[in-house]
Amino acid sequence: MSLSIRAIDPVSRPFFAGEVSGVDITQPLTAEQAQAIDKGMDQYGVLVFHGQRFTDETQLRFSRYFGELETASGDINFMTHRRLESIHVNDISNLDMDNQLLARDNRRRLFNLGNQLWHSDSSFKAVPAKYSLLSARVIPSTGGNTEFADMRQAWDELDAELKAQCADLICEHTQLHSRGILGFTDFTEDDIKRFQPVHQRLVRTHPSTGRKSLFLASHAGAILVWPVPEARAFLRDLTEHATQRKFVYAHSWKQFDLVMWDNRATMHRARPYPADQVRDMHRTTVAAERSTMAEAA
Ligand SMILES: [Fe+2]
Repeated sequence: MSLSIRAIDPVSRPFFAGEVSGVDITQPLTAEQAQAIDKGMDQYGVLVFHGQRFTDETQLRFSRYFGELETASGDINFMTHRRLESIHVNDISNLDMDNQLLARDNRRRLFNLGNQLWHSDSSFKAVPAKYSLLSARVIPSTGGNTEFADMRQAWDELDAELKAQCADLICEHTQLHSRGILGFTDFTEDDIKRFQPVHQRLVRTHPSTGRKSLFLASHAGAILVWPVPEARAFLRDLTEHATQRKFVYAHSWKQFDLVMWDNRATMHRARPYPADQVRDMHRTTVAAERSTMAEAA
């Protein structure tokens, strides 16, 4: 069987979220296979692979076909107490160093609840993420979906007046803002230094497809030269527009799914799940080639 990609919902979302079959991505790929997946990413923005029993090592190998990897420096515990060995793997779990469930008031757990807000991975880094690859190692019996919103379609369906208003805007993104929305302010001096705001264009043009998209994230807490309350009200309205159900694909996880998405064309958010059940997901992240400030407007 050879690699094929089909739309998950060909009726309502023929151009967003595809399912890939006919390839074992835990094994080395041929150049043709890697190219077909890259092309599928340009078309669908989100690709789902089932039954991929990754280790961190094989997940890293697969991820590297698509570019340089980021370090997990956006994690609250990046400098200390890491459960996972590789600095290129983000620990998206509710487990501590001894693989025990985190306590309800655990600092890392509370910080990670910020993932339930719509965002694009690493928009708080000067060079944000290109692709994220999330591997489901252990999943809870219920809940824990990941939802994806198509920011290209959200841009396409914005009215002309708003498009003109957004065109040249530059936002400030920081995890201090997104975590602050949920009332998490328990930052160390070092966190505050690491999470200083970075600038990102609000409208970006995809380097491969030439399609425009809205580059939104809950990390964005300001627009350059705008009064803060006006900027936040504006970004909140745009986010409401961009995350209408018609733009959203909700992924219901099966164990050993790997989902990969293009952070330049989509936003996503985690959904809640029972706190007394293990959820162990490992994320690798391919860095973009340049900052959005260096991209063509
Ligand atoms: Fe994320």
